[in-house]
Amino acid sequence: MSHELNFTVRPGGCLQGDLRVPGDKSISHRAIMLGALAKGQTRISGFLEGEDSLATLQAFRAMGVSISGPDAGCVTIEGVGMHGLQAPVRPLDVGNSGTSMRLLAGLLCGQDFDVTLTGDASLSTRPMRRIADPLTDMGARIETSAKGTPPLHIYGHQSLQGIDYTMPMASAQVKSAVLLAGLYAEGETRVTEPAVTRDHSERMLETFQWPLKRRGRTVALSGGGELKAHDIQVPGDISSAAFFIVGASIAADSDIIIKGVGINPSRSGIIAIMRQMGADIEILQQRQEGSEPVADIRIRSARLQGIDIPVEQVPLAIDEFPALFIAAACAQGTTRLTGAAELRVKESDRIQVMADGLQTLGADAEATADGMIIRGGALAGGDIESQGDHRIAMAFAVAGLRASAAITIRSCRNVATSFPGFADLAARLGLAIDVSTEEGI
Ligand code: S3P
Repeated sequence: MSHELNFTVRPGGCLQGDLRVPGDKSISHRAIMLGALAKGQTRISGFLEGEDSLATLQAFRAMGVSISGPDAGCVTIEGVGMHGLQAPVRPLDVGNSGTSMRLLAGLLCGQDFDVTLTGDASLSTRPMRRIADPLTDMGARIETSAKGTPPLHIYGHQSLQGIDYTMPMASAQVKSAVLLAGLYAEGETRVTEPAVTRDHSERMLETFQWPLKRRGRTVALSGGGELKAHDIQVPGDISSAAFFIVGASIAADSDIIIKGVGINPSRSGIIAIMRQMGADIEILQQRQEGSEPVADIRIRSARLQGIDIPVEQVPLAIDEFPALFIAAACAQGTTRLTGAAELRVKESDRIQVMADGLQTLGADAEATADGMIIRGGALAGGDIESQGDHRIAMAFAVAGLRASAAITIRSCRNVATSFPGFADLAARLGLAIDVSTEEGI
């Protein structure tokens, strides 16, 4: 018997007050990985205590790394060095987390033991050839299912060679997997991306004193060095802030300040896109925390207009489209998204699932092969199936601020993968949200 969570959001309300969002998921994963492989002790503060980043933490514990915490966002890792990991006794189950699986695959190719990576039902349908192919080119031995999906069987004792890889899709996970394998490869590993994607791996490798060459959309490193432990302060996750950025924009009389949010330019597409739609967003107290830029973000209600979303902004806001589609449905006029086919292979098919949900609420949303066309208008209430996708659940929760009747969102348990405490925090700010438990099989 498993328990499923549903959200019910009653109409009306606005968002008011100051808040912090949990730590950045992408940075939390990378801090565990590099901290574990470094020489010396790494202390992480602001670590995301969500299921995804905890899956990465548990994977390293299972490989013999001593990690204490998390305790109020603090984690201490006793790094074992580049060759100090031990074979896990069992397959490593990373749950819902694509980042854990793809980045771990990269660094596990360079070990001298075999390992199997598994995931939940959603992750088990996601494409893994995108990492298996370049890693195989480097000399790794890695097996997927016949469909190119998990589980992944990775064989140790392979000697890896650097490659010059041009990625067919804009993916920070693929880039990072190849770079992490490159740490163990002979010679130089070079990755070129078709569009800018999040560069947290590059920034953190530099923080841990691994030399990198970065030029335009190409990054290169040489294998065979050492990572030096370094304390990491994880900023608030802009992908979690996104739900409140959109919520405060669409709900009349809203005014919030989200404190300590990471605004790395490779992640801040949501701000650029929302501003182009007419959002009232102020960046306050901009500062640098370690290698990442951070700010407080003030958002007040605004009248939004539909836009054609600039295609170069797509990878910079790739996780924010569930929230942005809600903004578009509440805007005046038409919003068109193209160049976002990657959304179809996220935790769910985010184009189809969002279009279905918006139509349930009476919105004019048309799914296309690589995006969506949304004509803004009124939102009704209704019953939404989130397909277990955390970001879809949270997006429809904030839609409740503008709907004319209650919205019930089903399968919200996975909100805990990236945003533990979302419903309580949203309620404190003014969202009329209730959480109920349903027993399933
Ligand atoms: C991530 C990269 C993105 C993003 C995911 C986290 C990362 O995935 O959607 O949530 O931490 O590198 P892709 O690389 O598949 O675009």
